[in-house]
Amino acid sequence: MFDPQEAVVQEALRRAGENPRPSPKQVQRLGETFGVDLARWALQQAICRERAPFDLADQMLFTPEALEQATHPLLAEWRASRFPAGALVTDMTCGIGADLLALAKRGPVVGYELDPERAAYARHNLRVHGFADEVRVADGLLAEGEYLYADPARRTGGQRTLDPDLFTPHPGEVADLLARAKLGGMKLSPLMADETLEEFGGRLEFVSAQGECREALIWLGTEVEPGRFAVHVECGETVAACGSPAPASVAAAYLFDPDPALVRSHASGCFNLPVLGVPWGFLTGEVPLHSPWLKSYRVLHDAPFETKRWRALLREHGGGQPVLKQRGPKLDLAKLQKVLTLGSGPGKVVAFYEVQRKIRAALLEPL
Ligand SMILES: C[S@@+](CC[C@H](N)C(=O)[O-])C[C@H]1O[C@@H](n2cnc3c(N)ncnc32)[C@H](O)[C@@H]1O
Repeated sequence: MFDPQEAVVQEALRRAGENPRPSPKQVQRLGETFGVDLARWALQQAICRERAPFDLADQMLFTPEALEQATHPLLAEWRASRFPAGALVTDMTCGIGADLLALAKRGPVVGYELDPERAAYARHNLRVHGFADEVRVADGLLAEGEYLYADPARRTGGQRTLDPDLFTPHPGEVADLLARAKLGGMKLSPLMADETLEEFGGRLEFVSAQGECREALIWLGTEVEPGRFAVHVECGETVAACGSPAPASVAAAYLFDPDPALVRSHASGCFNLPVLGVPWGFLTGEVPLHSPWLKSYRVLHDAPFETKRWRALLREHGGGQPVLKQRGPKLDLAKLQKVLTLGSGPGKVVAFYEVQRKIRAALLEPL
């Protein structure tokens, strides 16, 4: 580990930052000037700094794996805003400090991290942003406080895993601690099974950001209103789970592609629109709707899918490269894309769905 306060380390970082993708000759020259280890470390920092989506990333410190695990600032800042401004929040698993930084912008923080290198980088990263809060090289399970946050590592041997028994710290032990706080949040993966996520109790949120379901969040503690919800980072709306929508067998005048977090939280019934095929399918209705939770389309045509007929139909509608979507069927869309592309310009949208084991398609244009 190198001390970024030392002049020679700063100079190595500066030189590496000038050209994060050097030729073998330039790498050799850097090694001769600073020694192989410092040159390699400085180049790694330069590459991470280029990738990192943070303000002042060019002054921050990372390890490649910790950067991959770091929360995107959009999500970190939204989540930090859920804790009361000015109250002390303990980040039990701070890594290089992406969440910690967002929490620090809101009020005092203390970070826990088992890995001394990551802890040192989190401390440095806080300082870069003007914060003097403490980062402890210690087990987050020993943390105490009214407001707690944890983002357990979901990796084993460098590979991602969905098995909570392989997470560190164990989410069951984290949950026990959070339940005793006023408010405790734990970030998990939305790909984890419902039964596993529901086992922790409390409030389960599926988080939508940039059109994707990015996180499952468990909230526990005495201030928590339990339930299952979809939350939308950009618009700030929260929708409670409300069961499956009623089924429809053909598309009506409009088709709506629900946000993945809405579907994941079982909240797509909130629009009172019927669903095509599977419960997580496209919604359809006779009236146009605009909502941050929906991608909305006008239906130009709706029919059983048959390749030859649909090629002809697409040609009638100007050809080009169609945008293909499916909810329900398991079609090879990459293969179909080749078959249904008729020219190089942009094409219409085609949504595939399945009713009574028959594949149908709707030809769409965005509203
Ligand atoms: C997913 S990363 C956290 C990333 C962080 N939220 C961020 O946005 O930068 C999980 C971190 O928890 C640390 N960790 C694992 N077990 C821990 C424990 N018992 N106490 C403290 N830190 C722990 C790992 O070393 C890893 O850096």
